[in-house]
Amino acid sequence: HQIVPTTIILFGATGDLSQRKLFPSLYHLYIYNKLPSNFCIVGTSRKDLTDHDFRQMIKESISKKSFDFTHLDEFLTHLYYSQQDVLSEESYIKLNQKVNDLESKYDIPQNRIFYLALAPKLFNDVTDFLDSSGLTTVKGYKRLIVEKPFGDSLNSAIQLNNEISTTFKEHEIFRIDHYLGKDMIQNIEVIRFANSIFEPLWNNHYISNIQITAAESIGVLDRASYYDQSGALKDMFQNHLLQIVALLAMEPPISLSSEDIRNEKVKALKSIKLPTKQQVLSDYIRGQYDSGNISDESVKSYREEDGISNTSNTDTFIAAKIMIDNFRWAGVPFYIRTGKRMKEKSTRIVIEFKEVPLNLYYQSEEKLDSNLLIINVQPEERIEFTLNAKHYSEGMSTKPVKLHYDLVQDQEYHPFDAYESLLYDCLLGDSTNFTHFDELIASWNLVDCIHDVWQQHKPSFPNYRAGSQGPRQSELLLSKDGFAWWENN
Ligand code: BG6
Repeated sequence: HQIVPTTIILFGATGDLSQRKLFPSLYHLYIYNKLPSNFCIVGTSRKDLTDHDFRQMIKESISKKSFDFTHLDEFLTHLYYSQQDVLSEESYIKLNQKVNDLESKYDIPQNRIFYLALAPKLFNDVTDFLDSSGLTTVKGYKRLIVEKPFGDSLNSAIQLNNEISTTFKEHEIFRIDHYLGKDMIQNIEVIRFANSIFEPLWNNHYISNIQITAAESIGVLDRASYYDQSGALKDMFQNHLLQIVALLAMEPPISLSSEDIRNEKVKALKSIKLPTKQQVLSDYIRGQYDSGNISDESVKSYREEDGISNTSNTDTFIAAKIMIDNFRWAGVPFYIRTGKRMKEKSTRIVIEFKEVPLNLYYQSEEKLDSNLLIINVQPEERIEFTLNAKHYSEGMSTKPVKLHYDLVQDQEYHPFDAYESLLYDCLLGDSTNFTHFDELIASWNLVDCIHDVWQQHKPSFPNYRAGSQGPRQSELLLSKDGFAWWENN
């Protein structure tokens, strides 16, 4: 994989994602010399703006996010704007003209990345027009980046894929799951496959259960119309959380090529046992937040949020027990939970090892603590490992101690966004950290199965207080197996 001169064409360039994430990330790549030597970025949206207006706008958004402004003006000279009606072929023809002119000016041999930061319902029309206007008839490469959600069920994902596949081949489609750009998520693979002490233990002989939590303290914000159709199941579980499961559960790939890794991830996702109706009801707990307090501030219930109906049955929380039917994982529950308006923002993975076969250090009835490997994804990026050690000076009693590595203390550390890493991968043409269509099929298959059962049973919502860790059933899900959520403390 190599970086070559490229034009990035960004649809939805004045939208929230572009302003908050994409342009600041592109600028950081520029500062770190990770953009091609010859490049230009063409933003499009409905707004009537000149190149100058557009640059001013981007300058402001980058100024809110960045820490180094020394190269900002220079970076902005690479930015251009084209007003776009995404449903009119004429504006694509105009855009193609502008892109061709810029490619002559910058000496770019028609390598084009099309980033659709747009509502998914437009993906099909946009890719059709890219094709018919000649924008995708290139001498170099063409790549498409799309944001989630990719479909809202198995059928709709297949349909969408069929539609965009008429213009882009699978290896040209980069489906964003921004969790795959997070450093600690990428670390899962390294921890597993670069340490001889973990891989031999990474199975049902030594691991008792795995817990994945992606808690958020924010509510629905201003995304009511999207979120109320989606819910936690489709917003977080189908993509981010199942991707984490795949990385934790996959077999060692024969190489780090995207194809080899993806094949293993697909196999892992396919091995997730599809729950029966009864299992969905007992093992997939949904919740919706009530009013409550978070950091001493009182917040509304979901049903009172702007744009949400007061009878909405959308899930803002899910806790699930997932079983993976293969030799490595048979019998090891993966407990997964995510929710809005929980106590605090915290994404972490806890791998709980089995207890030693015989505890020589029992003090009364107390059990020895399990060894835990904790991958703290955010806000702190940290790896922790807990051991039992001798209690200082107190005879032969034990106490749990923690070994840890904090990324922020690493000499090379600098704050960096998942989008930086994903944009860079796309420039390289490396699709390892993007979702392949086969992974989507497997994940929608499971999600459809849960959704169907949920549809048939009305929940009694709201069922958890804002500021709590979710409904009580989420605790029971583990306690009936003899486990408990390892909370962040
Ligand atoms: C997005 C979801 O994919 O991920 C949001 O649509 C959620 O609802 C967000 O808030 C969480 O991302 P992060 O990076 O803040 O954990």
